[in-house]
Amino acid sequence: MADKGPILVTGAAGQLGAVGRTVTTLLLDRGLPVRAMVRREDDRAAALRAAGAEVVVGDLLDPADVYRVVRGCRRVYFGMSVSSGYLEATVTMATVAREVGVDALVNMSQMTVSEMSIQNTTSSPQQRQHWLSEQALVWSGLPVVTIRPTVFLEGFFIPLTGPGVRDRSRIELPFGQGRTSPVSTTDVARVVAAALADPGPHLGQIYELTGPRSQDMHGVAREYSDALNREITYLDIAPEDWERGLRKAGLPEHLAKHLVTMAELNRAGRYDRMADGVERVTGRPAMSVRDFVSLHADEFGGRRS
Ligand SMILES: NC(=O)c1ccc[n+]([C@@H]2O[C@H](COP(=O)([O-])OP(=O)(O)OC[C@H]3O[C@@H](n4cnc5c(N)ncnc54)[C@H](OP(=O)(O)O)[C@@H]3O)[C@@H](O)[C@H]2O)c1
Repeated sequence: MADKGPILVTGAAGQLGAVGRTVTTLLLDRGLPVRAMVRREDDRAAALRAAGAEVVVGDLLDPADVYRVVRGCRRVYFGMSVSSGYLEATVTMATVAREVGVDALVNMSQMTVSEMSIQNTTSSPQQRQHWLSEQALVWSGLPVVTIRPTVFLEGFFIPLTGPGVRDRSRIELPFGQGRTSPVSTTDVARVVAAALADPGPHLGQIYELTGPRSQDMHGVAREYSDALNREITYLDIAPEDWERGLRKAGLPEHLAKHLVTMAELNRAGRYDRMADGVERVTGRPAMSVRDFVSLHADEFGGRRS
């Protein structure tokens, strides 16, 4: 094991939620050495390098690549975009991390796993893979910290409500009257960075992360209205119409199926959860929807003066 080696952050370029990119910045801010793994050389890789990270290129589905990037690292954050090879990538990482010997592996999962069991899975291939990945990591015997966030404000609410709020002042989702408590990936990344910086007290823990309030989508729309100083309403659209829109947008089948399941679970009240993981680990409460929309007002069509 490399006692003083860097901390490996996978998925560091960042796409939707960009947890890895934010974790990289937070660790560098703490003066810790970071090896940031990206899939390709591009502007995002250059920005990570400019920020002070050692940037390595590799494919999380290629064992030789994973061995090359993990070797010499003392700790690992493992997370990557929602995709069909997630379980294979997790098991590859676990195999390599055992071989190399790391003192902590912080694993990104999902809050839905908390309610899953052999008899009770979901129809989302991503959620099933997270559930199995968590099992495999337990069998691995590795020193693991498990992060189970609910739906992301960045990764879900910006892309999937941004256009409707910008163009029609409406949140258009098939969430029925279900309640939800979305969390900002900035808060998720703060929890991950805290666990990586000083893993001792976190090893073996499972952190469920939500925002500060669970409310129906009309309540969420009121927070958007307050943040943007204009009326935003919620329209409960037909699930079939929403699914058609996702497929028309050309989303990969794995991701589309995952999103359709998320909407079903929302309607069934499965996202009506509250957890204090953010505050417990970081000492600061999680960001509200209102504060999040204020920070990202431009992506929602701007705030009326
Ligand atoms: N979105 C949500 O609402 C939500 C809620 C709870 C939990 N989660 C979990 O959070 C995780 C996603 O985190 P995120 O949104 O921060 O990720 P992200 O920003 O969407 O993706 C992170 C990076 O993973 C990289 N990647 C994908 N496949 C790879 C491969 N084979 N090899 C190397 N790199 C690869 C991508 O590289 P490129 O950009 O170069 O393609 C991307 O930059 C998933 O585990 C998801 O289940 C998400």
